[in-house]
Amino acid sequence: MNSSDFKLRERVKELNCLYSLSKVAFESKNNIDTIIQKTIEILPEAMQYPKLAEASISIGQNDHATARFNRIKRMIEAELVIDGRKYGKVKVGYRIPAGSDGKKIAFLQEERSLLKTVARELSLVLNRISIEEDKAKLQIQLQHVERLAFVGELSAGIAHELNEPLGRVLGFAQLIKKAGSLNEQQSEDLERIIKASLYSREIIKKLMIFSRQMPQQITKVNLNSIVENILYFIDVRFQSRGITITKQLDPALPEIHADEVQMSQVLVNLITNSVYAMPKGGEITVTTRRRDSAISLIVKDTGTGMTPEIKSKIFEPFFTTKPVGQGTGLGLSVVQGIVDSHKGKILVNSTINQGSKFEIQLPLKQGRKK
Ligand SMILES: Nc1ncnc2c1ncn2[C@@H]1O[C@H](COP(=O)(O)OP(=O)(O)OP(=O)(O)O)[C@@H](O)[C@H]1O
Ligand SMILES: [Mg+2]
Repeated sequence: MNSSDFKLRERVKELNCLYSLSKVAFESKNNIDTIIQKTIEILPEAMQYPKLAEASISIGQNDHATARFNRIKRMIEAELVIDGRKYGKVKVGYRIPAGSDGKKIAFLQEERSLLKTVARELSLVLNRISIEEDKAKLQIQLQHVERLAFVGELSAGIAHELNEPLGRVLGFAQLIKKAGSLNEQQSEDLERIIKASLYSREIIKKLMIFSRQMPQQITKVNLNSIVENILYFIDVRFQSRGITITKQLDPALPEIHADEVQMSQVLVNLITNSVYAMPKGGEITVTTRRRDSAISLIVKDTGTGMTPEIKSKIFEPFFTTKPVGQGTGLGLSVVQGIVDSHKGKILVNSTINQGSKFEIQLPLKQGRKK
């Protein structure tokens, strides 16, 4: 092959490579990882010796490389740069075939400049995608906030409307019960009506707390005594299910300004979730402790844990993985509403098949009221 043929062939390969890359970059579904992966698959094709060529792209901790990249003997590289900041590298190298000393293998000027072009284009594309991703994330957050506000308003309305008629159902059912002139079947049915109404009333109460329709009563409270009280009531019930509850209470825990009923509700909701997550028994640890200017209430279980996907949704109102009729999906929304109104934070850690840990952090000094 004469030299102009050779040059032409190399040029065609180069153009093919750039063309494939631009196609990859604009296929809308491609995320950053796919683009990087496809780029390292395409790059070797544009080299003089495609069969010996390997490529790699590293961005921060994230490394992508073709299968035999670790066997390359010679390589060239180009920096990925955005706004003057170097954030990664593109590398292409050659493996030397067995029995050859590889002396004949040298990089062409064209290969070097192609690599630079690829690095530059890739930087632009990655920059564009990361801006788009940030935008999308923001959009989702915004939607979430809007939905919360909407659901909050809606539930407040529904709860309010239902509360009254429900009160009457319950009241009249109890009147009938008092009159005492029912046969056995009828009293059984009546009990069911009363039970269902009480259950509904609980849901309405949750809705009202969630949408902050319940007035708060802030007093000085000692979280330790709340834990003691609640556990006193529920401990025995769970022992039979193979669940042990351990307390680790900081004896020097300072009091905080909080709504006692709401704090109890937080604890009950967290413990109920943990119990549900341990159908075969396990251990729940309730901890209180002080860290600097905040105190923490921690409920840890050895239950099913959650996938990251589920974990990302648990605070959404009405999100539940329980079968219909067993959960409203409001438990954690209520917890979040209460913790927010106390200017606190919730941290969640969870590992599938190992368990979950919910930490409620409450500031010792309540900031100024919103
Ligand atoms: N300790 C936990 N372990 C595993 N999964 C949990 C835990 N706590 C919450 N979850 C998950 O979060 C979901 C939402 O919890 P949330 O308390 O808001 O509603 P729920 O428990 O499903 O219903 P409700 O509280 O009204 O009975 C649960 O359905 C469950 O999938
Ligand atoms: Mg729950």
